[in-house]
Amino acid sequence: VLQRVQPVLQPLRLSLDKLRDVSSRLHKGLVQGLGKHSHHRAAVKMLPTFVRATPDGTEKGDFLALDLGGTNFRVLHVRVLQAEQKVVKMDSQICVVPKDMMTGATQQLFDHIASCLGDFIASQELKGQTLPLGFTFSFPCEQKEIDKSILIRWTKGFNCPGVEGRDVVTLLRDAVRRRGDYDIGSVAMVNDTVGTMMSCGYKDQSCEIGMIIGTGTNACYMEEMKNVKRVEGEDGRMCINTEWGGFGDDGSLRDIQTEFDQMVDKTSINPGVHIFEKMISGMYLGEIVRLLLLRLSEEKLLFKGQKSEVLQTPEIFQTKFISEIEEEDTGLDNARRILTQLDLQWDEADVRVVRLVCDTVSSRSARLCAAALATIANKMRLNRGLDRLQTTVGVDGTVYRKHPNFSEELQLTVRLLAPECSITFLVSEDGSGKGAAMVTAVAQRLCVLFPCLHFLIKSYMSDLKNE
Ligand code: GLC
Repeated sequence: VLQRVQPVLQPLRLSLDKLRDVSSRLHKGLVQGLGKHSHHRAAVKMLPTFVRATPDGTEKGDFLALDLGGTNFRVLHVRVLQAEQKVVKMDSQICVVPKDMMTGATQQLFDHIASCLGDFIASQELKGQTLPLGFTFSFPCEQKEIDKSILIRWTKGFNCPGVEGRDVVTLLRDAVRRRGDYDIGSVAMVNDTVGTMMSCGYKDQSCEIGMIIGTGTNACYMEEMKNVKRVEGEDGRMCINTEWGGFGDDGSLRDIQTEFDQMVDKTSINPGVHIFEKMISGMYLGEIVRLLLLRLSEEKLLFKGQKSEVLQTPEIFQTKFISEIEEEDTGLDNARRILTQLDLQWDEADVRVVRLVCDTVSSRSARLCAAALATIANKMRLNRGLDRLQTTVGVDGTVYRKHPNFSEELQLTVRLLAPECSITFLVSEDGSGKGAAMVTAVAQRLCVLFPCLHFLIKSYMSDLKNE
């Protein structure tokens, strides 16, 4: 049976040569996204973040942080302790964002955010203080300034009509004003990749890449200003939010998209958008496996050709099942439990086939991420004219953290694809929470030490050229 299963899985197996090819396509995508005149048609958006400095260890103070990007919304009170070079979470609170709110009216979503923040401020006895606030908003935004951030489009299951094209900070401030019982100070908008890079950066100052492999996938890195053609200035570096999830939206990944990927895309709430992400991230991996299992049972290679009603339910096969089934010692037992739970009549051969399917899908995801990360590392090395680049990547996300061998496969493949780069991987401790505070703290440090620099940054920001 295993032999007859292989041809179905074959299109998901990407050779090193294919990955090199994908990497060189992504490289072209990165350059196109950075270009002044090519940006508007680029699939990989390469968004300037206006973060020009990583932490130097002198930051300090109390901050509020908001984190919206998955199914939960979090509010945090964070303290940055200079003496210990530590970012300490003082307290936090989670508010569930109900599924209908993720696609409902704008005002309802932002009123919910403002109300969670209000309750938290009251419970922390912070009313009356106006702490600076870092807002991790993990969606593609065109940042005009550190506190002006226009949503380009929703991803990952969110789709509130009317937010795209609007400034998220204004929407937040308006909602806070509608309540009228508390106030917020200066706001820094942060993508989760940037938060991740910055939270690792306090510990390891060579951390210049942030990567997320969770519900969605994305990365940011420090790019030379002279290559960031849409922002005035030639000196220094700026953190670029690549939004690599959008790679392939121009059709450039058609040759590696399988029929299962096409189906996942077609039935998603945003067809045609974030093609690369849909091959990699936690929101979609389980669904790819489910479609493969259905196909294999149609071809009588699984479950004696019988499909259970349950397996025909979209999204019933959760991505966390993949991690559980691939667990080294307990994996096969987990597979037996999960298949029974899905009402399938299985035998021992089925259990092994299911494990092979999970391994093929997660392994492709790890290798594609490796190709993308290698592209960035190689670009940074060439940018700096180095024979060898030594750098650190701050990483976060459930797929990277929870899957038993994802990180190993990713690291191994990056070493093969970027042999001139030595990359240290640092799992971020709550980048979306503490990192947002760190970005705000760095922005504050620059303002406190150099008021004129602050002015300069502000004017730089408004130099983002309108195209
Ligand atoms: C999606 C978002 C991106 C975010 C990533 C990881 O790709 O568009 O902004 O960084 O998910 O959460």
